[in-house]
Amino acid sequence: DDTIVLSDLAKRMGIKAGEMIARLMSNGVMVTVNQTIDFDTATLVAAEFGYEVEKAAFEEETILHTAQPDDPENLSHRPPVVTIMGHVDHGKTSLLDVIRKSRVTAGEAGGITQHIGAYLVSTDKGHIAFLDTPGHEAFSAMRSRGAHITDIVILVVAADDGVMPQTVEAINHAKAAKVPVIVAVNKMDKPDADPDRVQRQLAEIGVTPEAWGGDTIFVHVSAKQETGIDELMEMILLQAEVLELKANPDKLASGHVVEAKLDSGRGPVATVLVKEGTLKTGDPVVCGVHHGKVRALIDDRGRKVDQAGPSHPVELIGLSGVPMAGDEMVALKDEKDAKQVGQHRFQKQRAKELAKTSRLSLDKLYERM
Ligand code: GTP
Ligand code: MG
Repeated sequence: DDTIVLSDLAKRMGIKAGEMIARLMSNGVMVTVNQTIDFDTATLVAAEFGYEVEKAAFEEETILHTAQPDDPENLSHRPPVVTIMGHVDHGKTSLLDVIRKSRVTAGEAGGITQHIGAYLVSTDKGHIAFLDTPGHEAFSAMRSRGAHITDIVILVVAADDGVMPQTVEAINHAKAAKVPVIVAVNKMDKPDADPDRVQRQLAEIGVTPEAWGGDTIFVHVSAKQETGIDELMEMILLQAEVLELKANPDKLASGHVVEAKLDSGRGPVATVLVKEGTLKTGDPVVCGVHHGKVRALIDDRGRKVDQAGPSHPVELIGLSGVPMAGDEMVALKDEKDAKQVGQHRFQKQRAKELAKTSRLSLDKLYERM
C-alpha cells in the first residue's frame, strides 16, 4: 500500500523526473514517469540523491481526530438520519416532498424548492434528517468505504407495482448495513393498490410485518393524497428513540459527503451530513482526497449558516476539488494539516489509479504474447 508515483516523489525531492529516470536507468532500473514505486525502491532512489525516506513521517491517524472515542458525558441526542430507498418511480421523491412541505411553516414555503438531496425536517418531537435516494450505487459505495451514514431506511414500495428488483436490492443494502427498515407502502390511492400483496411479497423475502409476527413496521401512505404521512413520521421517531442516537456536538466536525458537484459560480460544492462535532465557517477541512477551508455553509433552504451540528446536512463551499458521494469529511484545527492530509490522499489515489492502468496494460501485453 505504501507506494508513490515516481513523478510525485521527484517533485517532493525537488528533482526533475527526467533526471530521476536517467539515474535509475544508469543503475539498470527501467521506469517511467507515471510508474508507481514501492517504499523500498523509493528509499533506494532517494538515497541515490542523498535523501532519506521516512516511512513514519506521515500518519493520517495522528493528525485526524476521528478515531478518538467520546466521553459518554459529552454525548447528546442527535436527530436520526433516514434514507429513502425503493424501486424507480415508486414515489421516493414525492414522499419526501410531502414530508418537507408539511413541516415548513407558511412563511418558509418559498424555501423548499432548494434541492440538495438531504433535508432536515422539524417535528414537534425533534428533527429528522432525510436523504433522498443517494442511488443504490452511491449507497453501496458508501458502505464499502465504511461510511455508516444512515440510521433508518424507509423502503418505498408502490402498492400497485409491488416488490420489484430494486426493492430487493434496497433490502439487501439495508440488511448488509444492519439498518432497520420501515416499509412505506405508497400509492394507496390507486384503484389497483394491493398492500396485502406487498406484505406477502416482502414476507417471502424475510421482511415480515409486525402484524405477522415479524419486526418490520409497515405504513400505508399516499404521497399524492398526502395520507399516512403523520403515522410514518411517528414510526420514524419511535424507531429513532429505540436506537438512542447520540453524538458529541462540542468538537471538530466529521461527516460524509452525500453528493457533490462543480458549480460554475461557487466552485466545488459538497453536500455533507455532519456525523459528530460541529462544522463551522472558517474550519480547515479534508474531504475525500480534497482539502480546503469552509468558505460558506448553506442549509437545505438555501440560507447561509455559521455552523452545522450532528445529523445536519449542509452545502460546504471552499474545497480544492469535487469529492465523491460517501467520502469522509473531517474538520481540523490547522489548515496546513488539512492540506497535508488532502495532498497525501490525492497522491495515494493517483498512485493507485496509475498502478491499475499499468497493470492493465501489462495484462494486455501478455494477452498479445
Ligand atoms: P426515481 O427517483 O426516478 O426512482 O422515482 P421516485 O421513486 O422518486 O418517484 P417519484 O416521486 O418521482 O414518483 C414517480 C411517479 O409516481 C410520479 O409521476 C408521481 O407523481 C407518482 N406518484 C408518487 N406517489 C404517488 C402516490 O402516492 N399516488 C399516485 N397515484 N402517484 C404517485
Ligand atoms: Mg426520485
